[in-house]
Amino acid sequence: MSVTSSPARLVVLVSGAGTNLQALLDACADPSYGARVVAVGADRDDIEGLARAERAGVPTFVRKVSQFTSREDWDRAMADTVAAFDPDLVVSAGFMKLAGAEFLARFPGRYVNTHPALLPAFPGMHGAADALEHGVKVAGATLFVVDPGVDTGPIIAQRAVPVEPEDDVESLHERIKVAEREMLVEAVGRIAREGLVVTGRKVRYGSAGK
Ligand code: GRF
Repeated sequence: MSVTSSPARLVVLVSGAGTNLQALLDACADPSYGARVVAVGADRDDIEGLARAERAGVPTFVRKVSQFTSREDWDRAMADTVAAFDPDLVVSAGFMKLAGAEFLARFPGRYVNTHPALLPAFPGMHGAADALEHGVKVAGATLFVVDPGVDTGPIIAQRAVPVEPEDDVESLHERIKVAEREMLVEAVGRIAREGLVVTGRKVRYGSAGK
């Protein structure tokens, strides 16, 4: 994908605390970062992620699945709303819903998701808990281009963290999230400034032909 706006226009989707969103908002305060958050969307009300956006003066929207007669209608409404902000990149940052076919078709190669595990290990809703349960010694985070599967898309960036003997899910997830935020900020900035080329499963920063 190539970025047409300068700074690049980001729409960020959240479902919870929004610490990844906050890391992006903070990074975007520096003009040299090359991106700005033009909207924040959520699938639920009353979450800190939306409050963070409001404090930063960023427009927000909420589309709940329960407001629509079908999952497809919700998906189309999400796609329409996101598209209205004309994003160069859509970032799922702790957004706990799978995008459907319509959404993916509207933002091909432009929808990325951060996941709290070293994919392809431990996809799904409980990456950190599943890694801990499995007894791995190294955990981490992955940023990938969303495809129709569950956490199966081409990998953009990964960060590893150690699993400590005394870890519980909370302590491990918090350690992962520190690394995850750094990974997200670095990768989104590079995508904004350089673009992203996806060839099969291989991903590199840059633009086609360069
Ligand atoms: C992140 O670890 C994300 O990968 C996972 O949920 C967490 C969201 O954290 N899906 P936050 O809302 O950005 O603080």
